[in-house]
Amino acid sequence: MIRVTFIATDGTTRDAIAKDGDRLLEVAQNDGQPLEGTCEGQMACSTCHVLIAAEDFARLPPASEDEEDMLDLAIGASRTSRLACQIVLTPDLDGITVRMPPQHRDMQGR
Ligand code: FES
Repeated sequence: MIRVTFIATDGTTRDAIAKDGDRLLEVAQNDGQPLEGTCEGQMACSTCHVLIAAEDFARLPPASEDEEDMLDLAIGASRTSRLACQIVLTPDLDGITVRMPPQHRDMQGR
């Protein structure tokens, strides 16, 4: 059991439970977080962009070059940005905190 805390753009915090091997994108979507994940993990969009809490970021395996390239295009990206479709949860990541990027809704034109 892996606990994940999501922080919505309005600051609302929600705790979700994931299993070893779950992708962060699906865990977030199942929890109702507004990540579109349009390309379903092909690294061809950046609609799964999330901000990882600074204290948790170092626990993640480093991003690939392709992921870094997509993050360069993501609106509101920061040093702890990642693509949620590229993050596979493992017990090592228990307790991770993931924030939705501030401009997400604008980026989607809603
Ligand atoms: Fe498109 Fe992650 S779902 S890059």
